[in-house]
Amino acid sequence: MIADIEQKQAAFAAAAGQAATPDQLKTLRSEYLGKKGFIPQAMKRLRELSPDEKRACGKLINDFKNQVENRLEELTQTLQAAGGKAEGKGKSAFDPTLPGRKETPGALHPVTQIMDEIISIFFSLGFDVEEGPEIESDYYNFEALNIPADHPARDMQDTFYIEDARVLRTHTSPVQIRVMEKQKPPLRIIAPGRVYRSDSDLTHTPMFHQIEGLMVDKDVSFAHLKGIMDIFLHEVFGKKTKIRFRPSFFPFTCPSAEVDIQCVMCSGKGCRVCSQSGWLEILGAGMVDPAVFQHVDYDPDEWTGLAFGLGIERIAMLKYGVNDIRLFFENDLRFLRQF
Ligand code: FA5
Repeated sequence: MIADIEQKQAAFAAAAGQAATPDQLKTLRSEYLGKKGFIPQAMKRLRELSPDEKRACGKLINDFKNQVENRLEELTQTLQAAGGKAEGKGKSAFDPTLPGRKETPGALHPVTQIMDEIISIFFSLGFDVEEGPEIESDYYNFEALNIPADHPARDMQDTFYIEDARVLRTHTSPVQIRVMEKQKPPLRIIAPGRVYRSDSDLTHTPMFHQIEGLMVDKDVSFAHLKGIMDIFLHEVFGKKTKIRFRPSFFPFTCPSAEVDIQCVMCSGKGCRVCSQSGWLEILGAGMVDPAVFQHVDYDPDEWTGLAFGLGIERIAMLKYGVNDIRLFFENDLRFLRQF
């Protein structure tokens, strides 16, 4: 029995040296001190021994018991000090005086919020959502939109060129071509996404978001375009908002227009944000040019279309009264928390 106890002493010392969690301490305690553990069972077996053996073994077991209790207590304290929740002798590492941990809920970025709102307005008008690549070929970004290599309109968009006739798309209009190539009319789609231009000031950023719109059907007219823009802009900005259509030029639409909203910063009086004009341009639009239809094999005598492209950040600026578009991308939480 003495050999048995000595062997267990060595085993306990090794196991205690490895114990690093409250659960491991619990297991050790029950293995050595629990009702069916080694020490209480060894004490029971003392009855079967001769008086001399009983004395020798009894002392050994008692010493072992003290050793186990002291060591477990010591390990429990160490774990508690390290922040563990050791369950030694009913003590807990829970400290009610510590300040609580604060949950900080996340929120959608204001640009995403506006984008979602606009998508749902067009969705209710029967438009489906399509997407296209941000790295685009020269063909889709320019050529198929009636902007050949030597066309002066290429200067209207400050393009980031990549090698192999690829560009970071400067607008979402290439999605018009991709959709018309794979679908036959009638169709009604919007295409939200990021676009890139080498441009930066109070109302321009090098990366911004657009939503493209395209509707192709029989007898689509400029009146449809005006009606759709009216519904959409009054839905976003409220019924009393002043909107104006201004004649403009895009190589892929004819006739073309730009739509302005009265500047909310100065109520139309003229300020830094609207360059003293009282208006801020938020979208380009027009009737799809027949030359574009020819690139996608649509018969221009049969089909007519309207198209538009909106700048999301500009809309967010006006809706929330933000006077510098770059604030949306500085990731300053004091700014973002306001939305
Ligand atoms: C276009 O990008 C045309 N593709 C829009 C279009 C589509 C016209 C379909 C006709 C038919 P434009 O370059 O004007 O057009 O840009 C459209 C809108 O994007 C602008 O009205 C403006 O709101 C926004 N925008 C343009 N450049 C920037 C910029 N650097 N930063 C933030 N917003 C911008």
